[in-house]
Amino acid sequence: ESSNSRKLKKVHADAAQLYHHILINTQIGEEALSYLHERGLNDDIINEFNLGYAPEKAILTAFFKERKVAGELLRKSGLFVEYSDGTMNDRFRNRVLFPIRDAQGSTIAFSGRLLHKDDKQPKYLNSPETELFNKRKVLFNFDKAKSEIRQKKFAILFEGFMDVLAAYRSGVKNGIASMGTSLTNEQIYLLERTTNELFLCYDGDEAGQNAIARALELLEPVTKLKLGVIRIPEKLDPDEYVQKYGETAFEQLISDAHETKIAFYMRHYQQNRNLANESDQLAYIADVMQKLAVIESPVEQDLYLNQLASRFSLEKDSLKLQLREYIGKFK
Ligand code: GTP
Ligand code: MN
Ligand code: MN
Ligand code: MN
Ligand code: MN
Repeated sequence: ESSNSRKLKKVHADAAQLYHHILINTQIGEEALSYLHERGLNDDIINEFNLGYAPEKAILTAFFKERKVAGELLRKSGLFVEYSDGTMNDRFRNRVLFPIRDAQGSTIAFSGRLLHKDDKQPKYLNSPETELFNKRKVLFNFDKAKSEIRQKKFAILFEGFMDVLAAYRSGVKNGIASMGTSLTNEQIYLLERTTNELFLCYDGDEAGQNAIARALELLEPVTKLKLGVIRIPEKLDPDEYVQKYGETAFEQLISDAHETKIAFYMRHYQQNRNLANESDQLAYIADVMQKLAVIESPVEQDLYLNQLASRFSLEKDSLKLQLREYIGKFK
């Protein structure tokens, strides 16, 4: 490890400690602390994840200036913005901060959330790419989750940091999230070294469900991971589900609501279709059959063919004939 990256990690560790101290011990952190409490995060989890608060005032700039830390190092940390006249300011202001850690547990970046909705600023602001932080390589919470992933033999991918924390406080500790983007090859590799099964547990709204379909299409051709879906009902996201129904109900949902890829597609393709209408029925069946055509296991194919046959009162033989055509086309 280069001395530069060691120094940058020290800057991040100091910053995280300062932000955490402001959140839990000071008056300027009070509003942010109540915000987190209201979102269901207690002091134990706030401490475990070292959550923090960056106030309006540029405290980080003052803190490091006082300690005479080199401007060059601060510039490389990504924690500051520099104006054209050369003066520096804190990048994160007025935001609750989630430290982003690498796989070994060192803080290498932050993501900050606004306390109040604001049309002028993004809800979440991430550190820029730095020598330490490459968002393509990082999985939020992977350092804490990896042993649990090994033990449970699967990982759960959430959309958001708050979802990972909501799961964690419910006892579901094998959850991770990307930095708001689809999984990269680097992240897939990290998971493949740890487990052979991945569940996507995205928001229950239409955007989240469409994102699952996209993620499955992207992942299928490039990974050996077995893929499944965990569906959150009522268009809730996992965090909202925990807030509404409680931690025990969430833990139950995670162990009960596993869907196979095909079961997900069979549900998803119903979206925006009227299955009382025959042309929609045919289009739906065609979509599902394309997915069945690429399944290796004949038993699994048979299972879903039976479901289709009974649902639409069709002869299974005609479905099978049709499937053979698709296999020629799509395999
Ligand atoms: P909460 O409102 O705090 O519950 O966040 P959420 O996780 O439910 O947010 P949402 O479902 O809108 O988005 C999912 C994830 O996308 C977030 O956790 C972020 O990683 C990312 N994201 C959302 N909004 C922004 C944004 O404005 N900027 C960036 N860079 N990422 C965002
Ligand atoms: Mn603490
Ligand atoms: Mn969303
Ligand atoms: Mn969400
Ligand atoms: Mn949310």
